[in-house]
Amino acid sequence: MGKRSRKNRKPPEGVFDAVIESLSHDGRGIARLNGKTTFIENALPGEQVRFRYAFQRRRFDEGRAEEILNPAEFRVPAPCKHADVCGGCSLQHLHPDEQIRRKQQTLAEQLKHFGGLVPERWLDPLTASVTGYRGKARVGVKYVIKHGRSFVGFREKRNNLLVDIDRCEVLLPAFGESLSDLSALIDSLSAQRCIPQVEMIAGDEEKAAVFRHLEPLAEQDLAAILSFCQARDWHLYLQPGNDETVHRVWPQGGEERLHYSHRDDNVRLAFHPSDFIQVNSEINHRMVPLALNLLDVSTEHRVLDLFCGLGNFTLPLARRAGHVVGVEGSTKMVDRGYENARLNGIENVEFHAWDLTQSTQGQSWAKQKFDRVLIDPPRTGAIEVIEHVAKLAAQKIVYVSCNPATLARDAGALAQHGYRLSAAGVMDMFPHTTHVESIALFERKK
Ligand SMILES: C[S@@+](CC[C@H](N)C(=O)[O-])C[C@H]1O[C@@H](n2cnc3c(N)ncnc32)[C@H](O)[C@@H]1O
Repeated sequence: MGKRSRKNRKPPEGVFDAVIESLSHDGRGIARLNGKTTFIENALPGEQVRFRYAFQRRRFDEGRAEEILNPAEFRVPAPCKHADVCGGCSLQHLHPDEQIRRKQQTLAEQLKHFGGLVPERWLDPLTASVTGYRGKARVGVKYVIKHGRSFVGFREKRNNLLVDIDRCEVLLPAFGESLSDLSALIDSLSAQRCIPQVEMIAGDEEKAAVFRHLEPLAEQDLAAILSFCQARDWHLYLQPGNDETVHRVWPQGGEERLHYSHRDDNVRLAFHPSDFIQVNSEINHRMVPLALNLLDVSTEHRVLDLFCGLGNFTLPLARRAGHVVGVEGSTKMVDRGYENARLNGIENVEFHAWDLTQSTQGQSWAKQKFDRVLIDPPRTGAIEVIEHVAKLAAQKIVYVSCNPATLARDAGALAQHGYRLSAAGVMDMFPHTTHVESIALFERKK
């Protein structure tokens, strides 16, 4: 069956009433109408809404609420005027306390469903600012002929089109308040149609922008982009091709780096704008000490940090532990780990590049013994390395996750290998979005 027959059934016209029973994981209200599940945007559990259908599909329908007949007590006005259209944040109409409460509920459900587990203790949710928190974001740029100018923003909820965003409330204010100026800058360039994206990145100390360009930039264009960045004290990087081509244009000379610090552990980390960093620095600055405290690390411990990136957990761990081994898929990040160890004068650490979805047999780091393990994988989780981790018989394992389903699956595997899920909690890394960031502590049964 092709896409057309699934999606293009003409939906009924007019408005309909629905009672919302629950909230989907992507932030839509769920109603049951004519025996069919109906996902309704801008609708919250307990509400009676008046909605229009957007699509009718074979197994479910979709629509959007136009009128809320009895608003839920946790409904709030969205902080952003683009909330109805922009696909960046889908939970803005839900009070932030309720957002995080529901994220904890999602984590609890997934742990039960995929892992058959209930945490022995819930950690208090880790929360911080719910606006102006995002320090790294890539905005799309598109010249829209019909409007005769460039749109700068994120993709729409319902399709792949760019939303014309003049300001974004979740980006750091320095970035979020510059979007209309960015769009005006791009429209002033002869390369107006050759810049498909701009990435903005902040460290604790510096800010940077990376302009992707599809054709060489004329001198005048470069001068205009440079003065835009200099006026804001943003380092300017250009990207003429793939990620490897990102290079700094201003300031000239010196290392192409930004920096952030974990002050509790006296660690300062350097990173390149194209490196992975945790995008919410306020939460990151609290998440790392939380993970270390849960691990209860001391100088007699050897610690394994899997999916270690540039050393975000590894180096603070090394301040407290006897020895730390970081393993990471990207050799570039392993180099960054060593660079950061040198920067901090840390010597009790080693980094290894390895694809952790592959067998660990024969790897020198995999033959070592560890008392503590930290795991911080991508969305796909860490199932391939769980057996190896379990064999280490470390007393405590902390798992940091951006996907509760894979955390729950891996938690189930750890439980089968003799670990208790002694604590779990959610962290508000991405307020107003449906992303769920969580942390779990596993302890070996005596
Ligand atoms: C969620 S990030 C965490 C990074 C780091 N712990 C931090 O806090 O900044 C996941 C890391 O896993 C790495 N990674 C992704 N797939 C991998 C794989 N198959 N094997 C090893 N590392 C991988 C990525 O390069 C990235 O650095």
